[in-house]
Parts: sequence; C-alpha cells; structure tokens
Amino acid sequence: MRVAIYPGSFDPITFGHVDVLRRSLGVFDRVVVAVLVNPKKAPMLDVDARVATIISGVREALPDLADRVDVRPFSGLTVDACRELGARYIVRGLRAVSDFEAELQMAHMNHRLAPGIDTVFFMTALEYGYLSSSLVREIVRFGGDPAGMVPPSVAARVASVAAAVEGAPVRVR
Ligand code: PNS
Repeated sequence: MRVAIYPGSFDPITFGHVDVLRRSLGVFDRVVVAVLVNPKKAPMLDVDARVATIISGVREALPDLADRVDVRPFSGLTVDACRELGARYIVRGLRAVSDFEAELQMAHMNHRLAPGIDTVFFMTALEYGYLSSSLVREIVRFGGDPAGMVPPSVAARVASVAAAVEGAPVRVR
C-alpha cells in the first residue's frame, strides 16, 4: 500500500489544497493530511478546528475519495511524522514558479534527514493558482466572501471565527 503524507498549516484548507489532495489520491492508496501544530505561529483556526474543517471540507469536495484520507495533527519534523505513519512520500503542491525555491530547499532537506522518503509535487490547477490560506484569512477578516475559494463548511467556520475575533466588519458607505 502506497501511503503519503500531505503536511501543511491548512489555516484554512482551500480548494487549491483540495485539488492537490485529489491529484495525490490518483497516485497513492492512502493520504494522511498532517496539520502542523506550530507554537511559533498564532493561527486563525486552532489545530482542532483545522482538523475538523479539513475532514468536513474533504467530505464535501471529494465524497468518493474521502475514505482514503486521514487527517492528523502533528508537531516536530515532517519526516518523523512520516516514519510514525509509515509514509514514504511527502506530497506538496506547486502553484507557480515562486513556490519552487522554498519547496526545493525543503524537499532536499527532508531527503537529507530521511533518505528513504521522497517528496512528490503536484501542480495546483490553474484556476486555483492565485489562492492561498493567508489571502482567504485576510478576505474573511475584512468581511469578504470566501465562497468558491474554500469548501462551503470551511467558509462558514472561518467567517464565524473571524467575526468573533474582529467583530462586525466596518464597511465604507
Ligand atoms: O502549509 P505550509 O505552511 O506551507 O506548510 C509548511 C510545512 C508544514 C510543510 C513545513 O513548515 C514543515 O514541514 N514543518 C515541520 C517542521 C519540519 O519538518 N521542518 C523541516 C522542513 S525542511
């Protein structure tokens, strides 16, 4: 059985992530979406909310594939999470050339740390090439609508979290 890990912050999961996940399920039997608990970052969604939104978003967006997807939090090194989960592959998405440099560095470093583990890249669909979790966070923070950028249940969750944190958005009349 070919098992891969798809690590990331997923704050929140976007349709770009969903697209990469769908492509990876064409190659791997099982994909574990591994959600980084990073004590240095203050995420908009805490790790439990990120795990919950990934589970609901994948069920909505990829209903026929969701039974081959696991979602787990992890902390520490991605390669250690791979070893723990029995995964020999790391999945990452590339949206544009600008992603490449950092991803290349990370892939080489991970390979150095764990020579038996390879990183496999999938090109994100062109229509999601402009999407990022950070832009989605900014949009919802200012009262914008993230529909079409994240699965519907994720949109509802991030909008309610943003409203609770920021209060009602101020609109210019
Ligand atoms: O969604 P992101 O923020 O681009 O994901 C980055 C992530 C989680 C893949 C990366 O920061 C990571 O692997 N962190 C775990 C710590 C680690 O293994 N660092 C060494 C990577 S070379």
